[in-house]
This record gives sequence, structure tokens and C-alpha cells, in this order.
Amino acid sequence: MSDWKTQTKLIHAGARRSQYGEMSEAIYLTQGFVYESAEQAEARFIESGPDEFIYARYGNPTVRMFEERIAAIEGTEDAFATASGMAAVNGALTSLLKSGDHVVAARALFGSCLYVLEILGRFGVEVTLVDGTDLGQWRAAMRSDTKAVFLESVSNPTLEVIDVKSVCEIAHAVGATVIVDNVFATPTFSKAVELGADVVVYSATKHIDGGGRCLGGVVCGTKDYIRKILEPYLKHTGGALSPFNAWVMLKGLETLDLRVRAQAANALALAQALEGYEKLSRVIYPGLKGHAQHTIAMEQMGAGGTVVTLEVKGGQAAAFRFLNALEIVKISNNLGDAKSIVTHPATTTHQRLPDEQKAMLGITPGLVRLSVGIEDVGDLLADLRQALDAV
Ligand SMILES: Cc1ncc(COP(=O)(O)O)c(C=O)c1O
Repeated sequence: MSDWKTQTKLIHAGARRSQYGEMSEAIYLTQGFVYESAEQAEARFIESGPDEFIYARYGNPTVRMFEERIAAIEGTEDAFATASGMAAVNGALTSLLKSGDHVVAARALFGSCLYVLEILGRFGVEVTLVDGTDLGQWRAAMRSDTKAVFLESVSNPTLEVIDVKSVCEIAHAVGATVIVDNVFATPTFSKAVELGADVVVYSATKHIDGGGRCLGGVVCGTKDYIRKILEPYLKHTGGALSPFNAWVMLKGLETLDLRVRAQAANALALAQALEGYEKLSRVIYPGLKGHAQHTIAMEQMGAGGTVVTLEVKGGQAAAFRFLNALEIVKISNNLGDAKSIVTHPATTTHQRLPDEQKAMLGITPGLVRLSVGIEDVGDLLADLRQALDAV
């Protein structure tokens, strides 16, 4: 299996067939497992084999298939699936840290990721936030007690692209563990582990499901990190993925590569067509030559990703008029879906940030995040143009 290309692994890796030889992966919708004897139960609690399960909060055959498939495509030794992307982010950080530890993180993060860092602060973890695109700031922030580094490889929603390889080198020089939230980059465009990351986190709710059906998440890393550090934390605190959702994610992985490449092709075409449009003050897309980290984006991902961020001239009122005039593109707050979705971050996903922090992060009142789907690109462009003309 290790010789298989990603597209093959996405379809076959981790499959476990029962005695019935089912074609589609089975949904083991069970919280528990029956033991043949009390002695067997005792032995399994001491040490479980790869095909032995105890309780769905600890593991389940359908969930295990998803974990093995994602670990195979990420190129990590192991993975642990979680109930949501935030359970993955929280688990990856909290399982590793204790009071007195120091964390360095990029300041441009999804609102809930910033919240997790705030919670860690309440428990005595010191957090330093840096401009993730400035390697000098990363270098200056590292200390001998820096235990973890956390970043989104492409930030939500302003699409800053972080030079993951360089940040990993800087962090590893002080022995810190680098945790990369790779949601926007997707498993198709970037393997953060190949760039030096120690731990990779996904909200599977996004591109992995791709159909807007279920919440889910996953943490990928070495066997030691996943089984000795993360698993004890997650199995006792209850962030497990449901077997049904794991099955949806397994099916999502089968078409991930096709969908994400089609989405990125649409996103590039839309960004190019909208650049310079008179109703817009900015078109942010890492695939455009004018993007501040275009070169890094191309080296790291070979593409610009599936999200285009626009700034509508005229602030919030103009942005709202644009959103309300869209017909095909839906107003919602997920991303990575086959359907195109538009979000106004300042009043939704990043609403709770103070105005100064929003301004510092570039989350202006006119900023709109567009997650590009796989609809016909001509239809999408026509919809975006008519809505912009309505502003
Ligand atoms: C970059 C990033 N990380 C984590 C999450 C959290 O994922 P979930 O909603 O599955 O908890 C999201 C989106 O919600 C996100 O955009």
C-alpha cells in the first residue's frame, strides 16, 4: 500500500472487510463490543490488538478505517478521528501542554482556534501571537520553554500563506512540536508533514466531507504522539467521531481529489475574472501572481486553493447587498463544500473578535469569503457579477 499514489489510497487505504466481503465500507453503528469472557474483557483493557475494540469513545472499526485512510494519504504513522475540527485542534494542543509551557501561534486564525488559545492561557499556558508571514517574528518569539507552535498553513479568512518549512526549522531548533491546521490547504494540495510539521489537523467537516453533511475532524502524527499523548486525552474527554460520520468521511475521501482540484480551477478562474472589478477593492487569492505569498503558495501547494476572499467597496452595507443578491452562491459559514458558499467573517465566524483585532487581521467590514464549489464556472461568474452590479 505504501507504493500506492494518493488517488488510490483515497479509495482503498484502511479498508477492513467483514466475513461478508461488502464492497462499500460497513457502518459499525455500535457503541460497544461483546467479549467472550471476563478474562477477554480484562485482557483487552490492558492491551487491545489492531482488530480489537472496547468502546466507541476509544475506537470503532468504521472510525479506524477513516483514521487509517487519512494517515495513509498524509504519510503519517497514525491518526485519531474526532467529533469536529475544533475537537481536533483542542485535543492536539491541550493533550501536549501543561501549565507553564509556552506556545507560539500565528495571529491570523479561525475565531474558535483563537478561543482555544485563550482557554489555554486561563490554565497557565503562555501564548505569543505573531504575524505568521514574518519569519523574523517567529524567530524572535521562540524560547527554550516553547513547547508547541500552532498555525493555519493558509489562514481563515484572509488567506495568508505561511512558509511551513521555514517555521518548522525555526521551531525545531528549540525542540517545539509544530501543529499545522491544514484545512484550507487540503490533503490534496499540501502534505504538511513533508514540509516538516509534526502534527497535522483537519476539520473533516470541510473538504473531506465535501457535501455539508457531518461534523468531523482528525489529528495525524507519529504513533507515539497519537497513541501515547493524544489518545489518552481524547478517549477520556469524549471528543470521539461517530461511526456514521466516519463512514460519510470515508465516502468523502473517495472523491476528495477530484472535487478539490475542480474547486481550485473554478476559484482561479473566478479570482482572475474578478480582479480589478470596479465594485471590489481587493481580490485575495494565493493563486494570483499579485498575492503577497504567491511564490510560497505555489511551492507548498502547487495551486491557490478553493477559497477566494473579496473586499467589496462600501463596507458592511455593500457587502450585505452583495450577499443578499446572490442566487446560486449560498450564504452560510462552512467551506470546502461542492456548493459555493459565501460568508461575511466580520459579523459571523470572527464576530467575537474586538474591532481593533479584526482591523489588524484585515477582517474589514467589506470582506467576504467565497468558498468556491464545483458548479459551472460560467454560471458562478454570472451570479457573482450580477450580485456585485446590484451593490
Ligand atoms: C481553519 C479551521 N480550523 C478549524 C475549524 C473548525 O472545524 P469544525 O467546524 O469542524 O469544528 C474551521 C472551521 O470551522 C476552520 O476553518
